[in-house]
Amino acid sequence: MNIAIVGSGYVGLVAAACMAEIGHQVICVDNDEQKVRALRDGECIIHEEFLPELLKRHGGTNLRFTTDLPAAVRDSSVVFIAVGTPPCETGEADLSVLETVCHDIAANVDRYKVVVVKSTVPVGTNDWVRRILIRYGASQKQFCVTSNPEFLREGTAVTDFLYPDRIIIGSDCGRSRMIMEQLYEPLTTGAYAQSEGAIPIPDEAPLPAQLITTHTRSAEMIKHASNAFLAMKVSFINAVANICEVAGADVSEVCDGMGADHRIGNKFLKPGIGYGGSCFPKDLMALHAVAREYGTGFHLLEEVMRINEDQRKFFLRKVRSALWTLKGKRLAVLGLAFKGGTDDIRESPAIAMVRLLLKEKCQIVAYDPAAMERTRQEFDDDSLTFAESAYEAARGADAMLILTDWEEFSILDFDRLKRELRHPIIVDGRNMYSLEEMERNGFTYVSVGRPDTVATANDAAIKERKTEAA
Ligand code: UDX
Repeated sequence: MNIAIVGSGYVGLVAAACMAEIGHQVICVDNDEQKVRALRDGECIIHEEFLPELLKRHGGTNLRFTTDLPAAVRDSSVVFIAVGTPPCETGEADLSVLETVCHDIAANVDRYKVVVVKSTVPVGTNDWVRRILIRYGASQKQFCVTSNPEFLREGTAVTDFLYPDRIIIGSDCGRSRMIMEQLYEPLTTGAYAQSEGAIPIPDEAPLPAQLITTHTRSAEMIKHASNAFLAMKVSFINAVANICEVAGADVSEVCDGMGADHRIGNKFLKPGIGYGGSCFPKDLMALHAVAREYGTGFHLLEEVMRINEDQRKFFLRKVRSALWTLKGKRLAVLGLAFKGGTDDIRESPAIAMVRLLLKEKCQIVAYDPAAMERTRQEFDDDSLTFAESAYEAARGADAMLILTDWEEFSILDFDRLKRELRHPIIVDGRNMYSLEEMERNGFTYVSVGRPDTVATANDAAIKERKTEAA
């Protein structure tokens, strides 16, 4: 099929590359000329596994890039809208870019087209898209608006798209539903997975992909509700972790015990310094705004957001408790991205921690395998410098902080670290190590929701006094 994808952000670009991979003719549209030029030159503008391969495989043949939206719409039978819907100051999703794109689409609907809303949008948006398309000149009989939310995660975006848990098609019209079913057929029949050169299937991928059809408004709600539920799980376990710390329980054991219940499951039960990224914070605020607008309220979401905010403050307290005063302390910071496997620092709790620590006048030497360039562009502060490895960051530091769950931070060479660090102190916001391992290797190790391990007799005495005081 001939497909246009409007927006070459995370969702748009990955969807475009994957749609080309499953056999469609794709034209990806963006109004950012520089971006389009880079993509045409074969540059992969985001850090995402398998994406460079797909761009190389299909770029210039069945995957093209353009700034010409009208032509792309005219040449396609399915038009995906995958533009950003950032939060307004009030928390609502800003749909102005979406509306502008609709104006241009409307003017170029010259024969029947399915207009697919892939951007994450509040419930009711698809109805607005339909209205705006008609208002700006599209004939009602020549298009159908369909909701097809995207559930890909950064870091595993390509495999999430090609081997999804589910594909949601929200449509109130039979013709567009049929076209959407055909579009995804290579995934729903399993044909793509068996094809030569297919991107490797991840371990737990359900095959073939399940396609669920719903009403448009339900599809919109599924996306917001799913993200809000996952964020709630993270905040829930973080709140549990905080109790564990004071009560002397170990949250890792608690997670194992809870996760063994199939109704709960062990995913998204990892405590840490809170969730971040381009979706959870924004989608929670948007769903909260929707509930406010409809007059139903959703106060649970306020609590989820509050716990997430507090988690950063609690972590700062941990750093302080390990080092006493913070002013002038040299800290090695491992991780800047909002999670491992991505260079994305949007709403990154690691970046929030760096800001808090800079405010406390710490000297920070940071290392991240992918996100340093983006971080450099955000900060203009001599107290923040960058290192080429975890060990270089650790050189002469009073302590090391782990803020992002990159896999390489879970296999550090302890002997080397101890040689580099001024004191063998690690404050781990991602619970990357077992307490036994850290104790055995002689680290003072402070993590989330678990007892501290102490490296020296001195530290042990301090801890004892603190416990008594508590
Ligand atoms: C999320 C959704 O998972 C995805 O379906 C949607 O399409 C976009 O938003 P993403 O933002 O890429 O994807 O990240 P995700 O892996 O979901 O993690 C979100 C945040 O929660 C990260 O900051 C992560 O570190 C944090 N998290 C996740 C935890 O703190 N603990 C967990 O157990 C899981």
